[in-house]
Amino acid sequence: MYNNLKGKHLISTQDWTLPELEQLLAVASRLKQERQLGIPHNTLLLAKTFFMLFFEESTRTRNAFEAGIHQLGGHAHFLTPKATQIDHGETAKDTVKVLERYGEGLGIRKTFGTGNAYMREIAKWSKIPVVNMQCEDYHPTQVLADIMTIKEKFNNELRGRRICVSWTSAPNYIRPLSMAQSLVLAMPRFGLDVTLAHPPEFKLKPEIMETAKANAEAAGTKFEVVDSMDAAAEGADIIYAKGWGPIVYTEDEKEGLALIDKNPGWVVDQRRMNMASRDSIYMHCMPYDRDIEVTSEVVDGPHSVVFDEAENRLHIMKAIMAATMI
Ligand code: CP
Repeated sequence: MYNNLKGKHLISTQDWTLPELEQLLAVASRLKQERQLGIPHNTLLLAKTFFMLFFEESTRTRNAFEAGIHQLGGHAHFLTPKATQIDHGETAKDTVKVLERYGEGLGIRKTFGTGNAYMREIAKWSKIPVVNMQCEDYHPTQVLADIMTIKEKFNNELRGRRICVSWTSAPNYIRPLSMAQSLVLAMPRFGLDVTLAHPPEFKLKPEIMETAKANAEAAGTKFEVVDSMDAAAEGADIIYAKGWGPIVYTEDEKEGLALIDKNPGWVVDQRRMNMASRDSIYMHCMPYDRDIEVTSEVVDGPHSVVFDEAENRLHIMKAIMAATMI
């Protein structure tokens, strides 16, 4: 039924056409409905294996893939560089040429430095689909779950609605650009207007911004950048706010952390939610810094959809595996 997606790598949503993404979302919705109705679908990937290679930590991504493939009748292997010979320098090519003899799909998370290049190198040699479980530039499985959630909450009527994608002052470590970049790239393609808000030093990569603007132009949607969370929140239908590092501005970690501390007050609180539209939703990919990036009042409040959003990771991961694994 979905043979056109068999073997297809998912490194960025940009690599997939809008009909392909819509097809995937339809599979996810169907699998979600079947799970809710108690209809088993555990023969779809019977005895198939999905490898998950994590260079960094995860709660949602790992467990959504692992639970997901179990529900589809298959099995996941949790791998790290230390648990494999990657830490001893085994090349990307040699690693995947072996794994493709054992299983039918491979996910990779590598969020700093050369994660994207590493995945693309793996994908170049791989006969099995390679899924980006987050790199420094993209987080496609998360943004697809976000789109699924927005479609559900707004009854599939996205055109004319506006998402505020805002920076927050999340301290202690440098977070990647991948979530904000994935949002500004993907949301215009689904008909949403986008307002991106951040302090001047926290720009996204110029080539991503160019593509995001081109996506908005092609879709006939609005795309604007402001330097105030208030301005972005005013009248927004969706508030999606999370921290990222000033990676384009400086590669120096100490300077980056100091810049985050120099911009306090970028937090989603009730005052800002009150500025948004009446039926607005609050979203975050999680984990959030509770009472730093978002107040407990908001994240536990009636506009918050963060747990529905997290649940949709499961349905999206299952759809990706069911549609692409061979
Ligand atoms: N949102 C997300 O990717 O969560 P994890 O880092 O826990 O996988």
